[in-house]
Amino acid sequence: MQVVVDGIEVEVAPGTTVLEAAKLVDRWVPTLCFDERMVPFGACRVCLVAVEGAPGPLPACTTTCRDGMRIATTDERSRRIASNVVELVLSELPGPPAEHTELAEVARRLGVGAPRWTGATHPVRHDERHPYLVLRHELCISCGRCVRACDEIQGAFALTATGRGFHSNVTAGLDAGFLQSTCVSCGACADTCPTDAISERLLVALEEAGGASDG
Ligand code: SF4
Ligand code: FES
Repeated sequence: MQVVVDGIEVEVAPGTTVLEAAKLVDRWVPTLCFDERMVPFGACRVCLVAVEGAPGPLPACTTTCRDGMRIATTDERSRRIASNVVELVLSELPGPPAEHTELAEVARRLGVGAPRWTGATHPVRHDERHPYLVLRHELCISCGRCVRACDEIQGAFALTATGRGFHSNVTAGLDAGFLQSTCVSCGACADTCPTDAISERLLVALEEAGGASDG
C-alpha cells in the first residue's frame, strides 16, 4: 500500500507504523520512549504528527499506516505539543541534560532551550549498588525504555517501573538493588537510556571529574 509523508509517496508493507514510513523517506520525527529494538510503547507523546482526517495529532510510533494516508511530520500543532512536553520533561531535571544524550538532541532539534519556568525537580538520589552501573534517579524521565530493554532484549526482568506521575521512577530488584535482582549486567538498560539516568559508573565518574567528552 501507499502513504504520503510530507508530500512524498512511499510504498509500505501492512503493519508499518507512521514513524517507520517517515524514516523510509528520511523525515525526522522526535521520539523519546521509542527504541527500534523494542515494541513501541507510546508513552512520551513527543512523536506527534498530523494525519489528514484525524481530529488531532497522532503518535507516529504506535499509529499504523493505512493505504492512502497523508502524513505531515512538521505539522505546527504537533511540534508545539511535542516541544511543550520536552520542556516539561526538562523542567523536572536538576539541570540541563548532558549534551551527548538523546534527550538533549531532541530538545536541540525542536528548538527547546532552558524551561521557561522553575518547577519541582526530582531529588538527587543515586543507586550505586551495581559494580558497573549507576542509576541516577533524578535524571529518569520514566520513558520505560530500560525496563523494556531488560525484558524484551535480555529477558532478565530485573527492572521495574514504580510510582505514579511526578514520583514515577525505575528500580532494580524492586529497589533491593541491581545485585539482589535478576540483572545479568548486559548493559542494555544503559545503552537505551535517553538521559544517562542509567549509565556506566566509569563514565559518570569521568563526567563528575569534568573529563567526559560530550559528543
Ligand atoms: S532510567 Fe532511563 S531508560 Fe529507564 S525509564 Fe528512566 S530515563 Fe527511561
Ligand atoms: S516516541 Fe512515540 S510516544 Fe514516545
